[in-house]
Amino acid sequence: MSANRNSLKDHVVPSLKNGLPKMSVAHSLGFWLRVALPTWTKGIIIRRPRMIALAERFDLDAKAVRYMERLHAAYGGRSALVRNPIRTQAVVFDPADVRAVLDGAPEPFTPASDEKRSALAHFEPETSLASRTAERAPRRHLNELALETSASVHSHADRFTAVIREEMQSLISDDGAAGELAWPDFSEAWFRLVRRIVLGDRAREDHALTGLMVRLRSRANWAFTVPKNQRFREDLHARLMAYVDRAEPGSLAALVKGLPDANAPTHQMAQWLFAFDPAGMTAFRALALIVSHEEAFDQAKAEIASGGSDPAFLRACVLETLRLFPTTPAILRQTTAATPLASGSLPKEAGIVIYTPFFHRASWLPQADRFQPSFWLGRDPEEALPVVPFSAGAAACPAKNLVPFLAAQALRQLLSTSNPSVVRPLWLRREGALRGTLDNYRIRFRLEGGSPTQRREAHGFPA
Ligand code: HEM
Repeated sequence: MSANRNSLKDHVVPSLKNGLPKMSVAHSLGFWLRVALPTWTKGIIIRRPRMIALAERFDLDAKAVRYMERLHAAYGGRSALVRNPIRTQAVVFDPADVRAVLDGAPEPFTPASDEKRSALAHFEPETSLASRTAERAPRRHLNELALETSASVHSHADRFTAVIREEMQSLISDDGAAGELAWPDFSEAWFRLVRRIVLGDRAREDHALTGLMVRLRSRANWAFTVPKNQRFREDLHARLMAYVDRAEPGSLAALVKGLPDANAPTHQMAQWLFAFDPAGMTAFRALALIVSHEEAFDQAKAEIASGGSDPAFLRACVLETLRLFPTTPAILRQTTAATPLASGSLPKEAGIVIYTPFFHRASWLPQADRFQPSFWLGRDPEEALPVVPFSAGAAACPAKNLVPFLAAQALRQLLSTSNPSVVRPLWLRREGALRGTLDNYRIRFRLEGGSPTQRREAHGFPA
């Protein structure tokens, strides 16, 4: 009892009756500078490669997690309010609050927070993630139907797999000659397969569309501080609508075309094209993690050699990569009414941030900074809360099954047609705790020589 009282003395006493504890000025400053600023400067809607390089070099994301641990201890594990001149803003520390907030979507915890709406308005103002009240349900529904959220394997999986095989094979044969694989080539091949899956084969070389998305997303990084480019946005939606009208069989666009009363379809599709970018980063990072962890590499090779249709271990590797390097590090919500949490109550219009790297990598977790894909075997991505790579609840990622499947197929192809080893970063090849950031833009692999077919045969993999 007395030990308990002593440890409570270290905690900051809540300054709002029945409300959340309020962080001190020093802690608030620390949060904005050490946690929020590095997250924001890396780019929320599109990454800024130079900032990612800095984050890796100075291990800023790991330092942010350590600072969150200090705050967690200072406020007794309770979620707390961080001081700022704009609005009531809560930072979640308590896993019970993570659950309550995510289960409480879309009311009273709307995912369409002001800052998210302001950023997404640059290119997809009617996407479900930015929609409130009655507008949200039909848009979310469209996403769930087209992405087949509840199916572990999408009904178009065979075509998607064939597309991935072709694109990854041509990537390896092009790069195999040079003997190295780096991000620019991978990313180009990745977006080819994304356009074919989302829009159809005729979109394979539509680099202009991807370029338009990049320009709009770059503006979206600045949210309300830069004006919207109406002309670019209209151009994007007209181009996407043309693909829906063409409805190429086997594409997601054709599925959309077949849905009666599809609500703002091109706005949902813009979100898909946007979100496939972090999916590619994750596949590339997963490849680096697998080949630099002997046990995982052996398990992956055994799974591929067995020739089964479900790459369960590779899917687990993708989820584990997202635990270690979450591509949505800040899950944002906003209250639509005064609402109680386990840590205290929140007023209406309060912002909430769930900083996922803290829940994924806190130093007291047994797997913390280690690559342990087996954690995910047999688990739905929503079943590990407060580890939430795809969020959870009614606003969880509707592609939570599709993404790991597609990324796993890309990994299967790359691992079975080449024998990659990591050239950069060197720290990945050393034993020990992983850094907080893995800069996907600067990962480089050495590939074993020979044609894809020769390499495949040499490793005993099925065609
Ligand atoms: C690494 C890949 C991805 C990760 C980690 C991821 C993660 C997430 C997360 C955490 C959210 C919730 C965001 C929030 O609450 O603010 C979300 C929402 C969403 N994601 Fe993904 N996502 C990925 C890729 C994709 C892809 C490829 C698609 C589509 C093909 C997609 C479609 C969506 C949609 C439509 C939403 C909004 C859901 C809603 O409004 O309820 N995501 N995603």
